Amino acid sequence: MGKIILTGDRPTGRLHVGHYVGSLKRRVELQNSGEFDEIYIMIADAQALTDNADNPEKVRQNIIEVALDYLACGLDPGKSVLFIQSQVPELCEMTFYYMDLVTVSRLQRNPTVKSEIQMRNFEASIPVGFFTYPISQAADITAFKATTVPVGEDQAPMIEQTREIVHKFNSVYGETLVEPDILLPDNKACLRLPGIDGKAKMSKSLGNCIYLSDSEDEIKKKIMSMFTDPNHLKVEDPGQVEGNPVFIYLDAFCRDEHFEKYLPDYKNLDELKAHYTRGGLGDVKVKRFLNSVLQDELRPIRERRREIAKDIPAVYRILEEGSRKAEQKAAQTLAEMKRAMKINYFEDKELIAEQAERFRTEME
Ligand code: TRP
Repeated sequence: MGKIILTGDRPTGRLHVGHYVGSLKRRVELQNSGEFDEIYIMIADAQALTDNADNPEKVRQNIIEVALDYLACGLDPGKSVLFIQSQVPELCEMTFYYMDLVTVSRLQRNPTVKSEIQMRNFEASIPVGFFTYPISQAADITAFKATTVPVGEDQAPMIEQTREIVHKFNSVYGETLVEPDILLPDNKACLRLPGIDGKAKMSKSLGNCIYLSDSEDEIKKKIMSMFTDPNHLKVEDPGQVEGNPVFIYLDAFCRDEHFEKYLPDYKNLDELKAHYTRGGLGDVKVKRFLNSVLQDELRPIRERRREIAKDIPAVYRILEEGSRKAEQKAAQTLAEMKRAMKINYFEDKELIAEQAERFRTEME
């Protein structure tokens, strides 16, 4: 059996460095590793609408932003199928059947959905579509027979839910679907990059993101305003690196060669951390270093993005072609599912013959 990737993002805003270290960068590496037979990267507009029903324009506007971020990071339509979720209607049909295999109480236990409900003040009135999006996400994954889902840690409950649905489907209707594995980022700092304010998560609504499309100035301004150790008031004071966003970002982005280039007094991040912990190293110096590192990483992405944006119709054509390919694959899987569930009445010659026979004998 082939190795197949499916993953995606909600188009509710431009992508930020949290997306980049948490999944985008890895996707590009996986794409280029040659280890995968098929790769599907989905812009999850239908999922974005589950909590933006009254703001479809936001979703509509951001599809192209996300597509540009994808292409700028190195996702290559020659190697990966880039597509839009709503353009593959088979996913809705699958979701409808999967709903029969999941209980309300199981959905209520999903920790990611729980915290999202809190964040959106949905407690009193949760849209049903939002509540059930983990089921639709199972359709996204299984429609492509994905074996591997590279995502951030917050998506683990969705993959778990998908595996349960696959298990249930296969045991009720016979071996049809593939149980996917989650693929988490390998660097721990990348699991959940905090916002520049030190809050647990980088999120557009908190206004604490560094975007892939930010200008050089915007990036610098954001880094210089970043939260650090609140008890590190004077340069001489010993500082704390654990939980300090500036150091978490360095964990995620910097490599030894950055020290050679920008801070030759230190060999590596361990030495820099030791100095900070001991005292005598100022925040501004560390932030300047982080700025150099991040600028190096983001500059080529920003420049490619600007180049690609010169031909927007071509980007829509890439998504259209990808959506067509994605639909072909999903239609194949859906047909197999319906066969397994025996709801393929018109191609089931045996059923038709059997019913004909039953009614013939009844009439005798
Ligand atoms: N829930 C994901 C997010 O918020 C987006 C998504 C939708 C997804 N369907 C998916 C991710 C299937 C991986 C697999 O980022």
